[in-house]
Amino acid sequence: MTETVSVFPSKHFFVDMLTRDIEFSEAILDLLDNCVDGARRTTKKRHSKTPYQGFWAHIELKDGKLIISDNCGGIPRETAEKSVFALGNPDLESDSHLATFGMYGIGMKRAFFKIGRSARVISQTAEGAFEVKISKDWPTNDTDWNWPLTDINKPFEEAGTVIELSDWHESVKRDLLQFQEVVLNELWYSIATHYTVILKKGFQIMVAGKAVKPKPLTLLFNPRAKKPTQRIMPYIYKAEIFDVKVRVVVGLIGPTPTDDEVEEELDWHRHKGEDAGWTIICNDHVVVYGDKTPLTGWGEERVPRYSGQFGAIFGVADSTKLPLASTKRDIDSSSDIYQIAKSMMTEGTRIFTDFTNKWKPYREEEKVLYDKLQLMEIDKVVAKIPKRDFIEVRGLQWETKYLPDLPKQNEDNPKRQIKLTHRQLEIRTLAEFLFEDHETLPSQVGLECFNRVLREIKP
Ligand SMILES: Nc1ncnc2c1ncn2[C@@H]1O[C@H](COP(=O)(O)OP(=O)(O)OP(=O)(O)O)[C@@H](O)[C@H]1O
Ligand SMILES: [Mg+2]
Repeated sequence: MTETVSVFPSKHFFVDMLTRDIEFSEAILDLLDNCVDGARRTTKKRHSKTPYQGFWAHIELKDGKLIISDNCGGIPRETAEKSVFALGNPDLESDSHLATFGMYGIGMKRAFFKIGRSARVISQTAEGAFEVKISKDWPTNDTDWNWPLTDINKPFEEAGTVIELSDWHESVKRDLLQFQEVVLNELWYSIATHYTVILKKGFQIMVAGKAVKPKPLTLLFNPRAKKPTQRIMPYIYKAEIFDVKVRVVVGLIGPTPTDDEVEEELDWHRHKGEDAGWTIICNDHVVVYGDKTPLTGWGEERVPRYSGQFGAIFGVADSTKLPLASTKRDIDSSSDIYQIAKSMMTEGTRIFTDFTNKWKPYREEEKVLYDKLQLMEIDKVVAKIPKRDFIEVRGLQWETKYLPDLPKQNEDNPKRQIKLTHRQLEIRTLAEFLFEDHETLPSQVGLECFNRVLREIKP
């Protein structure tokens, strides 16, 4: 006789596993992803430059509740019943015709579980409105896997959704009550980074009443350069394979940091390297920001490992389709499409690490290269480079790249470095003799010795 054994999951285990690897701010980004997807489904301007214009999401703390509200079209009653609240999407193909970011059907619920024990979702579409409540006791009862849904009169002026999360978990409570400013600032920064493209395309996000400003995605460029040779220009790769578009752009965001800046980590955040490295964008979402690891080619093949002197190198790889890790703020680096992009990213990075290294002994001369350069939006930079300056990659029409012809040093009379080590007593004696000050810096003493002899033989 065959009997069955129960494999019914324990809620406690399920919820714990689900929320273990995500941070508070990632949970909020999950909820925002849904708002943006809602806007994408609703917008009538899908192909315009600002498809999200007019859509917003607000995050606020009020009366012990974390509230996320939006005007992004709301949740249709039918899908609410069928799939929206399911733990995992039973119909993975439902949105496949749209470039929505939602994939697994878990993000919203994972965010609820991460933050607290109670939740209320109120949603309104053109047709009607409903409310779903998750009570504080739900997680303790292993047999109850339903949440009550109630039809209500339309509560909002526009179609949209409000999610209220309360009965916060201890750690969330501590963070939101004791370290509120820090946590909200971090969240603000995280949104500014991960949603920079979406914000630029018209979406508005407020965190505790403060509008989030998108992080710049800019590169140095000389808009008046007629001939883009011998200038600091970016490396660009573009490909279009069926419906997948890939674009890789890398250049500089400022002059190479000086050794002092690198050493002292001067308070110019770009030189601290926060923004430097690679940013990867998938479908308008920034999934990786400022990466300086082998994930984006640093320290692999012929690209050096990232160090402070490369703090001005900034690259953006952008694709309409990239396999993402399940938290969606990371990519599946083994995918073919990423491997293609990565080989181009590596080629581009090398051009700029070589440039940085070659100009290292010429820091004074290097300064003039940056004279007329301005930071410009990457899209604009790419648009300004004429098509004829692009070359085909592997002889394929749908794959082209632009190789910058970066300024080179005059190699006829190259610079060489002299390094000297001497006894302190002798250096002081020379310092006294040359400058009548035995405290003069050893480097100045050495330089003056060199210059004096040079002047003697070459008057
Ligand atoms: N603010 C919202 N506006 C409109 N629809 C929403 C909103 N929040 C959630 N939804 C609906 O609920 C569904 C489930 O959301 P959930 O985040 O759990 O999964 P997903 O977005 O489909 O996939 P993923 O796990 O990859 O995020 C969404 O697909 C969407 O249809
Ligand atoms: Mg989602």
